[in-house]
Amino acid sequence: MTTATTTETQLITPHGGQLIDRVAADAIELSESAVSLPVIRLNARQESDARLIAQGAFSPLEGFLTSADYLSVRDHMRLESGVVWPLPVTLAVDEETAAGLREGGQAALAAPDGSLAGIIDVAELFGYDKHLEAERAFRTTDEAHPGVAGVYAQGPVLVGGRITMLSGTPALEPAAAPYHQTPAETRAAFAARNWRTVVGFQTRNPVHRAHEYIQKCAMEITDGLLLHPLVGETKPDDIPAGIRMRCYEALLENYYPADRVHLSVFPAFMRYAGPREAVFHAIARKNYGCSHFIVGRDHAGVGSYYGTYDAQHIFREFEPKELGITPLYFENSFFCSACGAMASEKTCPHGVESRVSLSGTQVRDMLARRETPPLEFSRPEVARVLMEEYAQV
Ligand code: ADX
Repeated sequence: MTTATTTETQLITPHGGQLIDRVAADAIELSESAVSLPVIRLNARQESDARLIAQGAFSPLEGFLTSADYLSVRDHMRLESGVVWPLPVTLAVDEETAAGLREGGQAALAAPDGSLAGIIDVAELFGYDKHLEAERAFRTTDEAHPGVAGVYAQGPVLVGGRITMLSGTPALEPAAAPYHQTPAETRAAFAARNWRTVVGFQTRNPVHRAHEYIQKCAMEITDGLLLHPLVGETKPDDIPAGIRMRCYEALLENYYPADRVHLSVFPAFMRYAGPREAVFHAIARKNYGCSHFIVGRDHAGVGSYYGTYDAQHIFREFEPKELGITPLYFENSFFCSACGAMASEKTCPHGVESRVSLSGTQVRDMLARRETPPLEFSRPEVARVLMEEYAQV
């Protein structure tokens, strides 16, 4: 359970008003009551969602969406209550599993390894239109989009209802596991450091100098930075979280004041939903205690499905007070050899020929050829980690 100290209350209020805690107070009682229940075997993504809901990262959600909330989220980016919620968080099952469930009953939730993870109060079983969900949430029905492919691969029935979970974290890579903290824990850490304003930074990539530049610009106006890499499932060609963790450590050790930055992990999976996921990422970080959130270019994008700044424009659809967290927008940033510094189009008058910027694909190709990314793109300590570790993957 979360206890708010005087200092903690100076941090931003969780989304919807309070931090949700759906972790069972009595693990033995939960385990006993699960014995006779039908079982829903969760996949890694579903387990990640369930754990994050239980820990309060997705406050005010207390479980998987029921149909009224699902439709309202899909079509209006709000829960039925009106609270902003941009992406469906649902529990899809196949017909056979659904046939064993009953509205008004309960089901045991098994982790991917088969162990008991929690219980769901089955409020509702309902069908859904995957194409419409894809069109609204992802702005495309193209099955080549990894997030859309994920929805298409799901079972046809959604199970809505409140969950109660045993305590536990989603499966994490060993290098990421020590950095796992619940929202209550990051909030306590910020309070202990006397931070009131904290800027959250989402990333699914090894950290490069444009990331560092925008983080440090934001750090000029906040008390601290939460470096919060997403370490749940990503697409196979993204660089694994274990390697990324060593990049973050190398960067922080050499280039950041330890008392102004907090490294922790966000065990959600990537949806690649671009604009809607940017809002989702911001709201989750609000629950972890962030007052500000960085949205750069093509946040949570993939391929060319979204415009460079669509993930910034979507925030205009909400009143600042209904979001609570303040988005900080950054233009495409790069090293400019004429300026001799990191810059963006807002600050640099020189042409593209002076700019050093590399796409993720270009970096991966360089690493595969065993070429070191240039100093203007990557700090040498980070490049070294990538050279040593990525080449072995
Ligand atoms: S993401 O999928 O997690 O958004 P990534 O790790 O590359 O991908 O980006 C993390 C954050 O940094 C996002 O807010 C993104 O918009 C921003 N960002 C990444 N590269 C740049 C850049 N060169 N200029 C400005 N913002 C950037």
